[in-house]
Amino acid sequence: MCGIVGYVGDNKSLEVLLGGLKRLEYRGYDSAGVAVIGADGTMDTRKRAGKLQVLVDDLDMRPMANGATGIGHTRWATHGGPTDRNAHPHLGDDGKLALIHNGIIENFSELKNELVESGATFTSETDTEVAAILVGREYAATGDLTEALRRVVQRLEGAFTLLVMHVDQPGVVVGARRNSPLVIGLGDGENFLGSDVAAFVEFTRRAVAIGQDQIVTIRPDSVVVTDFDGNSVETDEFEIAWDASASEKGGWSSFMAKEISEEPEAVAKTILGRVHDGLVDLKELEPLGPDALTDIDRIVVIACGTAAYAGMLGKYAIEQWSRIPVDVELSHEFRYRNPILTPRTLVISISQSGETMDTLMAVKFAKESGAKVLSVCNTQGATIPRESDAVVYTHAGPEVAVASTKAFVAQVTALYLIGLELGKVRGTLSDDEIRHNVAELQAVPDKISEILTVSQAEIGQLAHWMTDTQSVLFLGRNVGYPVALEGALKLKELAYIHAEGFAAGELKHGPIALIEPGQVVFVIVPSPRDPDSLHPKVVSNIQEIRARGARVIAIAEKGDASVLPFADEVIPIPLAGSLFEPFLAVVPLHIFGMELSAAKGLDVDQPRNLAKSVTVE
Ligand code: M6R
Repeated sequence: MCGIVGYVGDNKSLEVLLGGLKRLEYRGYDSAGVAVIGADGTMDTRKRAGKLQVLVDDLDMRPMANGATGIGHTRWATHGGPTDRNAHPHLGDDGKLALIHNGIIENFSELKNELVESGATFTSETDTEVAAILVGREYAATGDLTEALRRVVQRLEGAFTLLVMHVDQPGVVVGARRNSPLVIGLGDGENFLGSDVAAFVEFTRRAVAIGQDQIVTIRPDSVVVTDFDGNSVETDEFEIAWDASASEKGGWSSFMAKEISEEPEAVAKTILGRVHDGLVDLKELEPLGPDALTDIDRIVVIACGTAAYAGMLGKYAIEQWSRIPVDVELSHEFRYRNPILTPRTLVISISQSGETMDTLMAVKFAKESGAKVLSVCNTQGATIPRESDAVVYTHAGPEVAVASTKAFVAQVTALYLIGLELGKVRGTLSDDEIRHNVAELQAVPDKISEILTVSQAEIGQLAHWMTDTQSVLFLGRNVGYPVALEGALKLKELAYIHAEGFAAGELKHGPIALIEPGQVVFVIVPSPRDPDSLHPKVVSNIQEIRARGARVIAIAEKGDASVLPFADEVIPIPLAGSLFEPFLAVVPLHIFGMELSAAKGLDVDQPRNLAKSVTVE
């Protein structure tokens, strides 16, 4: 939550900051602001409540001086509402220092009391302003911006990325991070800081991730990283694997539309290079240790939101293929309930952003408890993979829309690869079985493409008919259950309507009381071809709700005539093995969520109250 950009270099700060904030806006869009030291040596700030465009329009009407040093911020409000005054940057006592912040300073209240007693006046309701005043005062005492920030971060509790600049120090921006993201971009005669690489990928693809409790000082021709005690630290440079066009909307109506269209590619790229001779070869698991995969006796998957539903699908596949018991837990519940972990537990964290605070805290806790941690992540240089023992990257490319789509199918792909690798190493799958499942996985991208080609318009039409619908239910059994949950989450966040996903077998234990005439219910129907299929049971469930007046929309295998008499609409999906059906069944639900949001005139990419990276607990 909150996007941060810092720049030192040429006289083009405003272009860099506004371009970076545009690409980071998905991290928070309650307000935006910039501070720039102009060529005349004065510092100017401008900040506005609302989306970035409000600030841009304001700057168009009342231009501010450009300069070679600047910081910019796009906010997701925590302390203090989304107002001009609470927008960042915040200034020190004397107005000479500007500071931006992502995170929460948990002890801000006592620091504020202390500052008020010493004569400080506050202009905002934020936790951030205490840091601005403290750093401003330390700079006045030391004349050294890096040292001033170092002194202050020692006093802060909570999670923060802070960037500061001072009017007396043109050409210098200093950043610090604890449990919130910060990445350096290395340029030629210019350097950048950002919450993630999207902030500066337009200008450079050379990046360096900053570790926990580290401070970075950038000047046009130098970058110095130290720890909070002032010791220099080693850093690793990496090349950003995508270019600026990947994080642009292109000709699409929304980022979400673009990202749904990229679901086939997200699966294909996540498989790429990880299959040899038809067998899975996941070298990324080696850092877990030589015997780790045979030694583990239990897997715990931790994740939030859509990533947790991907984890639930991973459970079905990993248990089936490796016979290792898998528990799936929401990170925030896992972290605070004293879970039982041993050195033989493998914790798999799943996170698109790699920055979700709930999952990061759970990862740290798992490591401290002696478990090994493997992360599945979509973002290079992110914090969670850096805190883990090993990482399997999903290669979905940057996901900008707040509602996760292509990252979900990429996460499921990575988990299936992990399941097949475990089956191989532990001897629970034969080579033929692995090859069969790999072939199924490799066939997924074309099948998703078929759905996108054949059904998108029809699903859009369905959404247009349903703009007044107040409640939608989703039913699925087995691997259809996480798909139902995912379909419901998409409707809640995108269309702002009541939506619930249920295990279809649970229906008669209570939820069937919700069914009244006209209630829309999406049902994920498993294939009838599999002899172990739950198809007959799901068809019975459909009849039960139909008898009570439900309007049934079935997502069923192409050619499954058995659902036709009972469903009001059928969305066909291509044939696939049972474990692979979720890759296909979820796509119509992603499209439906997007189309309903658009049909209701809502903001598809930036739903209200949300942010892409949830970097506060
Ligand atoms: O970045 P992460 O994968 O850790 O994010 C987890 C959830 O916050 C995320 O999936 C969220 O539920 C999405 N808005 C769902 O579309």
